Amino acid sequence: MKTKTFSLLTILVVLLFLTCKNATPTPSGQEESVVNKKEELYKQKGKAIATATFTSLSGQLQKAIKDGGVPNALEYCNLAALPLVDSLSKVHKATIRRTSLKVRNPKDSPTALEAKVLLEYANQFQNGEELKAMVLEVDTQTNAFFAPIMLNEFCLQCHGKVGKTLSAENYQIIQKIYPQDKAIGYVTGDLRGIWSIQFYE
Ligand code: HEC
Repeated sequence: MKTKTFSLLTILVVLLFLTCKNATPTPSGQEESVVNKKEELYKQKGKAIATATFTSLSGQLQKAIKDGGVPNALEYCNLAALPLVDSLSKVHKATIRRTSLKVRNPKDSPTALEAKVLLEYANQFQNGEELKAMVLEVDTQTNAFFAPIMLNEFCLQCHGKVGKTLSAENYQIIQKIYPQDKAIGYVTGDLRGIWSIQFYE
């Protein structure tokens, strides 16, 4: 009988403690700092992944162009073909992709959220604002990292103005592989698109 009362009491005390804990709101400052820490963590991870991927991609592209010109290099601006992307995705429990308002490969078309982010960056770019990486909490288990992708002169060989920075011959080959291509007409310093990296907890 005594032990029964005792355990009942324990349960009550635990219950009370739990309800109290739930009822007491966490001081918002504390909650915010946890959120900020998470945001900062994913920002750092996202930046590291984007940099590593970009470096690997650019290296491949440059080598392929040197070896056989633009036609030889076309398959090397494809993230999916990079073994590094595969291993980084596994290590970080992430999906790594690039998207744009003007895509070359229809597979890179933006989702609704990505389209929103792309428009926001495009707006900032037009207003001459600094484009910064950002992290959005998609749901309790998913955080999305976004960062702008800017074009340099080298990229124009395949994304520039046809007949000028992008030769008409090379563009013919591009159009054969990507009949719906929209990723041309850019100049150096343009906003080409974004990195979109989703982290799953
Ligand atoms: C040799 C030609 C070539 C060069 C140089 C090149 N690209 Fe690409 N780019 C492509 C091709 C082809 C695709 C489509 C890849 C695929 O099938 O996924 C592509 C796709 C992309 C995409 C993905 C979105 C989309 O439109 O499908 C981005 C972003 C991109 N390129 C940015 C760049 C940047 C930035 C540079 C310069 C650092 C660059 N590219 C240089 C040929 C090139």
